[in-house]
Amino acid sequence: MSAQFSVDNTHRTQLGPIATPDRLLLGPGPSNAHPTVLQALARTPIGHLDPLYVELMGEVQELLRYVWQTDNRLTIPMSGTGSAAMEATLANTIEPGDKVLVAVKGYFGLRLADMAGRYRAEVVTIERPWGEAFSLAEIEAALEHHRPAVLAMVHAETSTGILQPMEGIGELCRRYDCLLLLDTVTSLGAVPVRLDEWMVDLAYSCSQKGLSCPPGLGPFTMGPRAEAKLAARPDKVPNWYLDVSLLNQYWGSDRVYHHTAPVNMNFGMREALRLLADEGLESVWQRHRSNAERLWAGLERLGLTLHAPDHLRLPTLTTVRIPEGVDGKAFSLHLLNTFGIEVGGGLGALAGKVWRIGLMGYNSRAENVDRLLNLFESELPAFRPSASQAAVAASV
Ligand SMILES: Cc1ncc(COP(=O)(O)O)c(C=O)c1O
Repeated sequence: MSAQFSVDNTHRTQLGPIATPDRLLLGPGPSNAHPTVLQALARTPIGHLDPLYVELMGEVQELLRYVWQTDNRLTIPMSGTGSAAMEATLANTIEPGDKVLVAVKGYFGLRLADMAGRYRAEVVTIERPWGEAFSLAEIEAALEHHRPAVLAMVHAETSTGILQPMEGIGELCRRYDCLLLLDTVTSLGAVPVRLDEWMVDLAYSCSQKGLSCPPGLGPFTMGPRAEAKLAARPDKVPNWYLDVSLLNQYWGSDRVYHHTAPVNMNFGMREALRLLADEGLESVWQRHRSNAERLWAGLERLGLTLHAPDHLRLPTLTTVRIPEGVDGKAFSLHLLNTFGIEVGGGLGALAGKVWRIGLMGYNSRAENVDRLLNLFESELPAFRPSASQAAVAASV
């Protein structure tokens, strides 16, 4: 071999073909993708400016407006995961020194506050314990006191299993002349989300939960009030990749190249949204609710305690308190290694305290609920401390 083709051969290069097992993903996400979404992903890519692809882009936008229940013109799937879309809402909206009020009641509220600070916002927070939601009065008091430019909050807190009631918050934001930014990562396509009715100005989500796609796209939407703030900003958006004014030249009528779109991910997104529209949003929401109720009732029948109070419980993500003396991680590893089922552990303040069970999109089915409940019933007793161990523990 001539010297110009010689390479460093010290790296490991001999691998077998990929052979991941089929898992049932009942954790906080990703959830399993629908089989026909996987088929769509496997299609031969077409060019990202091919007229057929341009047509598909419009279909994806229209269907995203449907699942979000919004007429927002600027509704696009960001190339990136939910966090990229989260960052896009902040990067496009915040001007240095803007006051951003973040309502924190779990891990993802903290992430919003961290990101807003990186865009040089003056970040102020209000907090609730991990397992509670904000009342309208608490939000109004904070808006009145801080007078922020943006109120950012999480609709469905994946770290706690809490669904934030949204009624009245949008009206308050209009009254206090503030934009409302909402994380719908664990609610979109599964739990009622009505962006226009709720007067939400900015929202984002992900592909890998209620939409039954693999991770890789972050749906993003921006309403007219947020668009006006973007148009009036004196400086450039400080993130080139996520600058919506540039991205809209590709997603809007001009179709100007911005970056090479992940075309296959958008094939998958189109198929996922098509399936969802075919089932109908009302039926999808109802299915998630009834399967979650089946899970909640079953877990309680087994003597387990749910962390979230009944009226704030999130159908897509259930937090179950790990019983005293049980090694929660060992139990979830047993489910994964022996039965191929993934269940999540706690995050942040709830680390080691709860399991997180996801029923999202394609996985929200009664047969999955029953399978998991049966395993909790048959397998968990072996992980409970025996009566004698408990007595020893109590005496020391
Ligand atoms: C509520 C919430 N927001 C944001 C994110 C971040 O999304 P991603 O992990 O797709 O970047 C997640 C991830 O699970 C989430 O649950």
